[in-house]
Amino acid sequence: MDLQASTRSVHIACIMDGNGRWAKRRGLPRTEGHTAGEENLAEVVRVCSKRNVSHLTVFGFSTENWVRPPAEVKHILSLHKRLFGRIEELNANNVRIQWIGRPFNEPGSKTPGFIQRAIEQAIADTAHNTGMVLTVAFDYGSRAELLRAADRARNHSRIPSQVTRDLINQNLYAPDLPPVDVVVRTSGESRISNFMLWQICGAKVYFTERTWPDFDEHEIDNAIKLTNGS
Ligand code: FPP
Repeated sequence: MDLQASTRSVHIACIMDGNGRWAKRRGLPRTEGHTAGEENLAEVVRVCSKRNVSHLTVFGFSTENWVRPPAEVKHILSLHKRLFGRIEELNANNVRIQWIGRPFNEPGSKTPGFIQRAIEQAIADTAHNTGMVLTVAFDYGSRAELLRAADRARNHSRIPSQVTRDLINQNLYAPDLPPVDVVVRTSGESRISNFMLWQICGAKVYFTERTWPDFDEHEIDNAIKLTNGS
């Protein structure tokens, strides 16, 4: 079976679950699991770009994750800074960075300044790349995105009562992002949470028992296989 997605556009969206459980099984602190998760994400990016996946979207930090213990939040934020700083690798793999989440200048945004700057820098430093688009969802929640899109659609519609599908599409955080072909959730959880609820309409779903730090090349191929023929 052809695992190369060469001539068609394939969008994989990942809910990277199970970092804590990965660490617990090894008698390590949860933070070590997140560190291993970030390292694995860098590997997944490399493999997906080699497979000619056109879009990889990852749930890095949700609008609900802010209530985790402050030390854990601080650690996860530092890992985002690390990921956004991997410019050399991203450029070597021709990967363009994109971000979705509550816009920095709007009420409700919680993204601290150092992460805002890291995101903006990574977007600028990879803007010339023409290969895979890596979209990181940070301070992201699908319901917040959809409420904002509906509000803006109403304001932009000539007839306010007529909110159309196109108007919602145009007012998502990243309107150019194509529909998701396959959603992945690791760690044996069979649910979607608050992730890309509009964009995953019609997508295949790949649930795996593997925790995120153990999500490897073979698993990526299993997810890609689901998109063949769709
Ligand atoms: C789930 O693990 C993962 C997260 C809360 C998101 C953070 C993801 C990473 C740090 C991976 C690297 C990604 C980026 C973008 C830097 P969990 O804590 O919910 O695990 P558990 O369910 O086993 O406790």
